[in-house]
Amino acid sequence: MSIDKSKKVVFSGIQPSGIPALGNYIGAMMNFKALQDEYDCLYCVVDLHAITVRRDPKTYGDQIRRLFAIYVAAGLDPEKNIIFVQSHVPAHSQLSWILNCYTYVGELGRMTQFKDKSRKHEENVNAGLFNYPVLQAADVLLYGTHLVPVGQDQKQHLELARDIAIRFNKVYGKIFTVPEILIPKVGARIMKLQDPFHKMDKSEVENLNNSIFLLDEPDVIISKLRKAVTDSEAVVRYGEDKPGVSNLLTIYSCLTGTSIPDAEREFEGKNYGFFKNAVGEAAVAVLEPIQNEYKRLMSDRGALDAMMKPGAEKAEGIAKNMLKRVHDAIGFI
Ligand code: TYM
Repeated sequence: MSIDKSKKVVFSGIQPSGIPALGNYIGAMMNFKALQDEYDCLYCVVDLHAITVRRDPKTYGDQIRRLFAIYVAAGLDPEKNIIFVQSHVPAHSQLSWILNCYTYVGELGRMTQFKDKSRKHEENVNAGLFNYPVLQAADVLLYGTHLVPVGQDQKQHLELARDIAIRFNKVYGKIFTVPEILIPKVGARIMKLQDPFHKMDKSEVENLNNSIFLLDEPDVIISKLRKAVTDSEAVVRYGEDKPGVSNLLTIYSCLTGTSIPDAEREFEGKNYGFFKNAVGEAAVAVLEPIQNEYKRLMSDRGALDAMMKPGAEKAEGIAKNMLKRVHDAIGFI
């Protein structure tokens, strides 16, 4: 696929920082899939982003492969979309350096994810963690992206990407497209199953019952959802006063395509045990076919690695052009 000028461009990425969680699937991947027919989409395994935390060189390669395979297994068609690994396209790092010079330290210091992650990894608050949103801006701006589908937690980073694009364009003319942020109305922030006040995370280590990972066995998925925290009201109703039940209703609604009011009606008079089982079954129905396809793809690493090549080549072609325009605008010779 080459970029068709009549179609809008979509770009998004996920870090290979663990097996994606149900939050990543609902908040991001489901929308990646929904957009692929109508737009020119680039979906990236952002392996450069994920090294702000130390990775074991022996296993990191497979972690990257796994996320690529999950993209494809989840229904992203490598023929229709440009699916690629970030480090295979050097222009991401190159543009990132340039954009660093158009980003203020004050802006980066205000990023909530930087503040959260520096608290979490006190022993390794590296400059990459601080500059992380600039690399994210480079990812998006390299491709003339119009739309960026993400979950709620990425909004601040992408607002900064917009500010950087506007600032750069003010100096040099219209080089970058200012991207729109596409956040789903329902499911933009799936919460931890045991602590519905915090978002579900693929890097969960403290309590594995908090996250459903896309490769969890069906019985594990069912059991994690059965253990999910609810409340003592015993009514399946969406409401701010019911964070656990509301989170489960959101998950059910997104996975089955049922609206929240319809789901509430469906579970009227039913107890939480019944409701949680239904959410578990809905999750298994969606995830099991993905897992089967994933296993098939991972069984032939050679074929999987070969599958990565065309995406990287197409992305490289587009990214190089943009980088050249940026170099020319700045006056590099
Ligand atoms: P990452 O890898 O943390 O998450 C990938 C995507 O999943 C969404 N997400 C969630 N959505 C709903 N509920 C949750 N609990 C939840 N947790 C995560 C995220 O919002 C994201 O859309 N910096 C990005 C990766 C990135 C990127 C980009 C995204 C790098 N470059 C360019 C868009 C465009 C990140 O760490 O996502």
